[in-house]
Order: sequence, then C-alpha cells, then structure tokens
Amino acid sequence: MSPIETGRVIIVGAGLAAQYAALKLAPRPVLMISPEALGTGASSAWAQGGVAAAMDPADSADAHARDTVTAGAGTVDPGVAASVTAEARDHILDLIGLGTPFDRTANGGYVLSREAAHSFARVVRVQGDQAGAEIMRALTAQVRESDHIQVLEGVMATGLEVSGGRVTGLAVAHCDQGQSASVTLRGTAVLLAGGGSGGLYALTTNPPRIRGQVIGMAARAGAQIADAEFVQFHPTAMACGLDPAPLATEALRGEGATLVNRRGERFMLDAHPDAELAPRDIVARAVYAQTQTGLAPALDTRTALGAKILSDFPAVAAACQQAGLDPVTQVIPVAAAAHYHMGGVATDADGASTLPGLWACGEVASTGLHGANRLASNGLLEALVYGRRCALAIDAALPAPTVAAPVTLPDLPAAETPDPALVARLRQAMTDGAGVIRTADGLNRTLTEIAAIEAAQPACDALLNMTATATLLRRESRGAHFRSDFPHPDGATGIRSLMTLTDALAIRATMTRKEPA
Ligand code: SIN
Repeated sequence: MSPIETGRVIIVGAGLAAQYAALKLAPRPVLMISPEALGTGASSAWAQGGVAAAMDPADSADAHARDTVTAGAGTVDPGVAASVTAEARDHILDLIGLGTPFDRTANGGYVLSREAAHSFARVVRVQGDQAGAEIMRALTAQVRESDHIQVLEGVMATGLEVSGGRVTGLAVAHCDQGQSASVTLRGTAVLLAGGGSGGLYALTTNPPRIRGQVIGMAARAGAQIADAEFVQFHPTAMACGLDPAPLATEALRGEGATLVNRRGERFMLDAHPDAELAPRDIVARAVYAQTQTGLAPALDTRTALGAKILSDFPAVAAACQQAGLDPVTQVIPVAAAAHYHMGGVATDADGASTLPGLWACGEVASTGLHGANRLASNGLLEALVYGRRCALAIDAALPAPTVAAPVTLPDLPAAETPDPALVARLRQAMTDGAGVIRTADGLNRTLTEIAAIEAAQPACDALLNMTATATLLRRESRGAHFRSDFPHPDGATGIRSLMTLTDALAIRATMTRKEPA
C-alpha cells in the first residue's frame, strides 16, 4: 500500500509528554497516534504521587537538583538536573492555567507530599493520589478542543521508516479489534512519546500496553538506546493477584505508613536510617527480600491514616476495595514491581534522538535526568519539560507550517498478533532474570529465553535484547540495578550505557553461553 503523506508532525503516544508536546506545537498541525481512547491507557493517568517542583518558598530548585543527582547514584547528568528542576515551577503554573486543580492550602500555598529521597516535601498533588488522572483530564480536554491536533484513536505505531539515515515515516496499524497490517505515514517529523516498558515484567504497576514497543521500534530503526538496564522497581505495588498490580503511593509512607512483615516487624528500621523513606531502590530490595523469604511484606496505614485513607487516597482505597481489602482495619500486602524505565531512546537537551527527524520525550526517552534511580515524581516533571522542549525544537527545525488536511487511514487486513503464551513467557523471563536482584547466570538464562521466543515469533522485541544485554554488561550494582554477583558500585560516579540494537545482538551472540570474566 502506498505511504500516506501528511504535513503534520506525527506524535506516537497520548500520555502527558505526548499531549503537552502536541499543545505546545500550536498552530503547527499535529497527528497523535493513540492506541486507546485519548487520555486512557498511558502510565501518566495512573501516576499517584504528582509532580516534583520546588513550590515552597523555603525550598529551591538547587536543592531539588541535588536530591535528583544523589538519588541517581552517580549517573545523573548534573546539567540536565539543574535545568529541569529550574523549569519545574513554570510548568506547574502552566498546568494550573490549563485546568489542573492542584491541592492548595488555606493561605494560597500548595499542599506538598513528601516522597522518598527528597530533602523537602515538594510533590505537588491533586486530591491526595489523583495527580496523574487530573492532569490528564485537564490536558485531554484541551487537546480535544485544539483545531491543530488530530487524534487517531485505536491506532498503534509498529515501526519507523528510515531513508538515508533519516526518519521519514511511521508504520501504523489499527489495534482496536485485533491488530491489522500496517500502512506508512509520512509526516514532517516524528516525536516518540509512547511510554516506558514496565509491562515487559510479569509483576508491574504499568498499564497493559506499556511494554517497551516504542523504545524497541526506535532501537530497530538504529537509534541509540541509553541506560537500558536501569529499571526502577516500586516497593509498594499491591500484592493482591491483579495484573497490573495497583500502586500504593509512596506518599502514604510520607504520611507515616509503615512497612511490616507477617511477624509484625518493621523491617526498614534495620535497613536504612530513613526507614520507609529510604531511596526507592533500597526499599524495593528490602521488600523483595521479605517476599523471597516468605515473610509477606505489607504496608500498614492504619495508625498513620486510619479512615482518612478512604477520602485522602481514593485510588488506593478503590484498589483495596477491588482486591477485597479494608485498609482501615487490615494491612495492604505489597511486592516490588517494575514501575519506571530510566533507560530509553538517548536524547540531547532538546529531545532529539541520534537519528535525524526523530525526537523523543517522556518515559520512552533517556535524557540523563534519572540516572540509575529516578527521584520520585520527577517522571511527570521530565515529561513536561521535554514535551515542551521537543515541541520548540521540532518547530524550529521545520519550515513555516501550512494547513494540513485530516488523515484518514484505510481499512487494513488483519495481521498476526503476538502469541499471548509467548508474551507471558517473556514477562516471566524478565521478572526472573532481569528483576530486582540480578546475576550473570540469571541474565544469561533470560537472554537465551528471549532468543528462543524470538525464534518462535520472529517479530519479537528489540528492547528486551538490549535491556538484558546492557544489564549483563554492567558488572556493578548502582541504584536500581543490583547484581548479587557484583554487589558494589564501581566508583562513586558511573558511566551511562549507550548501545544500538546491532551492538546488543552482537554481544548477545557471544554472551548467551558464558559471560566473559
Ligand atoms: C508513587 O506515587 O509512589 C509513585 C511516584 C513516582 O513513581 O514518581
């Protein structure tokens, strides 16, 4: 089928970074590719904590930048941290202008949550745990009203077209009723904002479709991928048999909720001086260790919040109800679950990837902000900062906008969909071998399993190869990446990993049997 030409900037994804970038591209014509109905299906809408920003006059962007660098365990780019945190306030004010009802105090300040590894309570929130949902509600309303934005719902991106080393188009398919064959769209630029990869793990807090497809697509097109091995595990995913596992926000621990095991012991007291508010990777490993030894870790909100959890944390309360739990009288069973991918498409300060014509923002990108361990609630902030930067950079790179007609996709024949049994095997292989605690043996088994699954269904995932390979190559422990066979960091500062898919496959070929000494 012939490619469809359009004068629109094509944005892959419909979460916070995608929608914010689309709005900031006005009046330039935009085409958004949204697999689900706009405003649903993206991780952003599930974010409970909020946006980290130094909004209290006693706080500062410098302190926020310092906390970001410290949490990142030696691999955050300090210049990126300084510039992103300096822009935070401006984006909060912008979101308010766009209709986000952040919680305010009686004297006109902001209600600020405390989350782990922040030296100050600085997470701007909405109705306790509704920040993501409310920000997305406000932006979705704006996008729907914007004439310059066309949204194709029920459509997913399946690949990038590259010509002469430049991204020239995007293959898309219908996905509302099974998956169709693809057709190529050629726009003026392509912006990837299609989320991270948590759903590649069997135990995850991410929405079902967030499985690294967009990072994998960029990798297959030849873009450099940074820090693929840095995956953050959230310590308090609710262990209630649901897939995905609902989140019990870190803000609960900020309010004084404690972690206990089935013996009633507060195990974080011995694990770190900051106990439940230790950096997220440390709490995740402690929770994981309790799970592995059968001690059934749980979050106890009863004393700290009592019945207030029902009104102040409605998303957590609803998840408890769905799981048949009463958090007012019972503890909430928890487990460490894949939550956020610090790695992704390597970008510069404007969100440009290493492939001309291709930009990336949000969780799909790796900008250097998060290092080996993202500071809580810096994810939505990064999506805002780089969403706007990408929009400005794309606009500056293109000739003056002209009017573009809406794009209509033709009916397309049905195509092969990923075999659910193979997907389940992949997810289990990632949780087993590339999860909270990693070893060379476990990673080699995961790589071998990925290769076998790939052979069974060859269109398999490029990102998995890169994640497992980069994980195997990083022979140290740093932030969220913990190898029990290399349990210490290799120096105070670390080196970011940068890899193309070709590099990863060559390394896999030599490493799946035995890791070199
Ligand atoms: C949380 O609310 O615990 C998650 C916040 C985040 O991942 O940034």
